[in-house]
Amino acid sequence: MSTKNRILELLEQHRGESISGERLAGLLNISRNAVWKAVKELKKDGYDIVAVTNKGYCLSEENDIVSISGIKPFLSEKSQPYANKIQIYKSLESTNKTAKELAVVGAEHGTVIISDCQTMGRGRYSRSFFSPAGGLYMSLVLRPKVLQFENPTSVTAFAAVSVCEAIESISKKTPKIKWVNDIFIDGKKVCGILTEAVTDFESGGLDWVVLGIGINVCIRTEEFPGDLQPLATSIFPDEKMPGVRNKLSAEIINRILGFETSPSETEIFKKYKNRLMILGKEITVIQNQTEYKATAIDVDSVGHLIVKNENGEIITLYSGEIRI
Ligand code: BTN
Repeated sequence: MSTKNRILELLEQHRGESISGERLAGLLNISRNAVWKAVKELKKDGYDIVAVTNKGYCLSEENDIVSISGIKPFLSEKSQPYANKIQIYKSLESTNKTAKELAVVGAEHGTVIISDCQTMGRGRYSRSFFSPAGGLYMSLVLRPKVLQFENPTSVTAFAAVSVCEAIESISKKTPKIKWVNDIFIDGKKVCGILTEAVTDFESGGLDWVVLGIGINVCIRTEEFPGDLQPLATSIFPDEKMPGVRNKLSAEIINRILGFETSPSETEIFKKYKNRLMILGKEITVIQNQTEYKATAIDVDSVGHLIVKNENGEIITLYSGEIRI
């Protein structure tokens, strides 16, 4: 790790407190001048570091930059090895696009791409995904052989459950899932998940999966375009929560990458079903450009949605979209 990042890690661990240049130099076994140079570089990168005479350097509590050093302290022991597979950008067209480019040339399982904002964020069915600053946009390269389950629906369900649990761990909110993989809080969408995969032609199994997660973390309601305002919300729509995106990123990585043994698909779908917000409710099913009303009855052990249409027929939905 570079001197700059090691200093940032120490400052992150003591957010809002001053640490003297002498202490930083001693902890890292470098000169005070090297500390000063690294702090200068960090400030240039946008970190709000105040130098207080006779006290030292202090990373402002208001500082809201997503960084590896900011994420690392929240990574579990099992996830620590993934810290050096995280890449963070100020702006990208789409983190999924970058992750796919890397997956094609052999990026390892657990490569994580994060961007502060996206200029061409993409959702399912090639829709655009609103991605301003204040959100968390991340894509993980997964090699299913390491993940130990091959079914793309399981990967998506696992991601949806993991993101719900991660949101719950940093807030008092109770996120719910709208089939297939949208996450809602208080009846509005807070997160979308886009899973893209490539199959190994010879084995027929999945070669790699790029799991793209877009979460509205601190985007105010009035910042959403007018058509999205009634439909979308943030985890913290009314507050600034400096540093929370670092913790949220780590909580997601801990659940998706840092497990001892991968959870069974039965376990995943049980949790998934418990979070589904549509069971017993009337929904609109959208399939092949037609729509019909139905009641969501159940989700089976592999994530297919079972609905009853207005004629009383039971239909299993393997893919598609619903509206609530
Ligand atoms: C949807 O709601 O249809 C899925 C949205 C997925 C958005 C995320 S943001 C990170 C990653 N990069 C993208 O371009 N899309 C996904």
